[in-house]
Amino acid sequence: MRPTPHKTADALPAVYDPVARAAHWLTFVLVAAEFVVGWTMPDIGWGTEPTGLIGLHLLLGGSLLVIIVFRLCWRLTHRAPPQPASLPAWQRWSAGATHVALYALLLIVPLTGLASAAAREWPVRAFGFITLPAIVAPHAKIGFKLGDLHSDILSWVLLGAIGLHVLAALYHRLINRDTVLRRMLPSVGP
Ligand code: HEM
Ligand code: HEM
Repeated sequence: MRPTPHKTADALPAVYDPVARAAHWLTFVLVAAEFVVGWTMPDIGWGTEPTGLIGLHLLLGGSLLVIIVFRLCWRLTHRAPPQPASLPAWQRWSAGATHVALYALLLIVPLTGLASAAAREWPVRAFGFITLPAIVAPHAKIGFKLGDLHSDILSWVLLGAIGLHVLAALYHRLINRDTVLRRMLPSVGP
């Protein structure tokens, strides 16, 4: 028998629903791509055109932002499956805190990038056809400041939070040998 979302029986671990799991791994791929493209794209200065890798960073980033907003709406209207009963309280608490921080950073990092793009008058189209709003005025100082924050600080904070999160997932899988990772794997059940 295949496990079903939100099932609590001990023998069959409850898993995230298919939409939550698909959104999680799509986010993972897009965020990883955003780091690689962000680190390899040319330096940005006055008059730089948003072509090539910079254009790709805006296209993937804009699409990611839409996916994150959808994912947050989904999460707020769908419950996460219960944690394994054996999990100590501090691990439940720290997992919850890390997830809130990850969601917050998944919004703040793209939004600061979007502000920088707006200040530079670069259009951002999610999936190539949904035009995202220019959230600051052209040449606004705040847009450039947020762009610096995006590149120099917030992207690193996000990377640190992801590192913690992945270490925790591996700890559950390899050391605790519990069902936490299984709940988010793409291959389990409906
Ligand atoms: C989680 C998603 C994202 C990650 C991990 C990320 C990562 C990065 C990184 C590492 C850089 C630094 C490049 C350098 O070394 O100079 C950068 C720059 C930049 N990113 Fe992103 N980015 C993300 C989303 C976005 C989005 C959604 C947009 C716009 C819609 C965007 C627009 C920009 C812009 C305009 C710059 C240049 C910033 C400046 O110098 O003013 N990014 N990004
Ligand atoms: C870009 C990288 C990643 C981001 C931004 C990210 C983000 C998140 C977020 C926000 C949640 C909370 C889900 C919810 O309750 O709505 C979550 C859950 C989870 N993630 Fe990730 N994740 C990433 C990569 C990974 C990787 C590489 C793994 C596995 C090695 C992983 C394993 C898990 C597991 C097992 C859960 C469920 C944890 C639980 O419910 O206690 N994640 N992730």
